[in-house]
Amino acid sequence: MRYNILGIGFGSSHASGASIISDGRLVTSIEEERISRVKEDGGFPYKSIEHCLKKANLQDQDIDLVVVGWENEQNKEFMNLLLNKESLNLGLLSRRVRYIYAQKVEFKRYLEALKSRFHKGKVVKIEHHQAHAYSSYFASGFDKSLVVTWDGRGEFCTGTVMVGNKNNLTPLKSQKMPISLGLMYSAFTDYLGFGFGDEYKVMGLASYGSPVYLDEFRKIFKADEKNIYDVEQKYFRHFLFNKDCGYTGSYYSDEVVKLWGEPRKEHEPLTQKHKDIAASMQARLNEVCVEIIADLVAETGEKNLCLAGGVALNGVANYHIYKESGIENIFIQPAAGDGGISLGAAYWGWHTFYKETTRLPFEHAYQGASYTDEEIEKELQTCGLAYKKMTDKPKTVAALLDKGYIIGLFQGVSEIGPRALGSRSIIADPRPEKHRDIVNSKIKFREEFRPFAPSVLEEYGKEYFNLDANSPYMQMISEVNDEYKDKLQAVTHINGTARPQTVSKKACEEYYNIIEAFRERTGCAAILNTSFNVKGEPVVHSPTDAIRCFFSTGLDYLVLGDYLVLKNHGFPEVEAEQSVA
Ligand SMILES: [Fe+2]
Repeated sequence: MRYNILGIGFGSSHASGASIISDGRLVTSIEEERISRVKEDGGFPYKSIEHCLKKANLQDQDIDLVVVGWENEQNKEFMNLLLNKESLNLGLLSRRVRYIYAQKVEFKRYLEALKSRFHKGKVVKIEHHQAHAYSSYFASGFDKSLVVTWDGRGEFCTGTVMVGNKNNLTPLKSQKMPISLGLMYSAFTDYLGFGFGDEYKVMGLASYGSPVYLDEFRKIFKADEKNIYDVEQKYFRHFLFNKDCGYTGSYYSDEVVKLWGEPRKEHEPLTQKHKDIAASMQARLNEVCVEIIADLVAETGEKNLCLAGGVALNGVANYHIYKESGIENIFIQPAAGDGGISLGAAYWGWHTFYKETTRLPFEHAYQGASYTDEEIEKELQTCGLAYKKMTDKPKTVAALLDKGYIIGLFQGVSEIGPRALGSRSIIADPRPEKHRDIVNSKIKFREEFRPFAPSVLEEYGKEYFNLDANSPYMQMISEVNDEYKDKLQAVTHINGTARPQTVSKKACEEYYNIIEAFRERTGCAAILNTSFNVKGEPVVHSPTDAIRCFFSTGLDYLVLGDYLVLKNHGFPEVEAEQSVA
């Protein structure tokens, strides 16, 4: 029970990180991008490892086991795939081959460095999709479950189905490159003029279109009983390119251009046709995901489902799966993408390497970094800022929200995964529609079509939204109930949906109390919540990051722990609000 296990996510070229299990508990999990300040940082997670050791109060020699969630043993298969493609030109091939070998050498060097640094422990590696599966099933607390992973790709695998039973995960089927559900979505994201990692923008854009091209997408990808899913290869070239070896071409082929014309360039306007393509692809993804899971339910009789991998961050598909596939319970941990690989690696060490049967289920998303009041005040003084300590934080923040101010909220332990859940959030009154435009244009500097999510008190989730389960990690889109669409204008998407976070007192009391104070004051049990960052930057990690973001955007107030930091608006107004409240 006293094993110290360091899980490392590294190798997939983005979202590296580290997690640590010590003394029979998950101590912390963090993505490198938060500390390095490089969005989607895929470099070796030095800073995350330092964070884990510090938080667990351990030295290098205390580590018993290091588990890396990447095998890097399947490059031969990748090479064969490249060599078998007739369309390759030699220049491109040599560039790609050089990259694959350089990556292999680099990975080996890092493994040697880990063995040298943690020389009293053992260093082992597991497959990327195995780590995805462990990150979901062993975090879920389910005793039995279907476990499905789907993403762009791991080493060569692009999806797996397993069955979890007590402490065992048994593989049922898998899919391999070049057939990839995630890269299919990435290819059309590319065609629509968005970048690698912008798939969530296409999901948001889909709400503005109609699925008029659904028949075409039915020919492009489908469910496949033997291999999970199948994708028609003539439309794609994604396996030829990799952003790390130079993005020299498109992920889609000329067949897509024959179908829908020239691709959109990044700064060109979005037409109805672009929106319809996004809507059609999303509608087809929903159909295929539902069909796959429904077939698996029929095949195995399982009614619990754990999902992981980048495709599991698609909240619209998740909602359709939950509503239409016949499953009863769904679990998707907040770092369902590659940011959760280190978590799965650490769980593998605990349950499979050490054969521990005690489960360490995930109780909340707040597994990252935190700062003491002393550290925060020291930073405020160093920066020479005007601030005051709040005597009743929930009531003060609720009063400011009600007056229409937009607030940067930095408190408690940071969340894992891409969603802000009340520790590193920008919050606003969700009732007036104009707040969506203000937050988009003056603070986030992002596309006007992008929706914002509501955080709702758990007790009001079903009243406000068409939800029959809690959604603590914002992993499912759902319809806003008719009587609340007008009352939640800033967080209701054009198609009448939202991506709610249900907030419980048990998981996050500090955040819960703010929303409860807002409800007491206004009658509205929800607030607008978006991640505390600007477009293109990782979510803020430290008080310094939060202060920088505060002064470089149109945010009105900054809450740092129990301190209120001022910009354009003075103390008296806040003090008056406190006395009223
Ligand atoms: Fe992945």
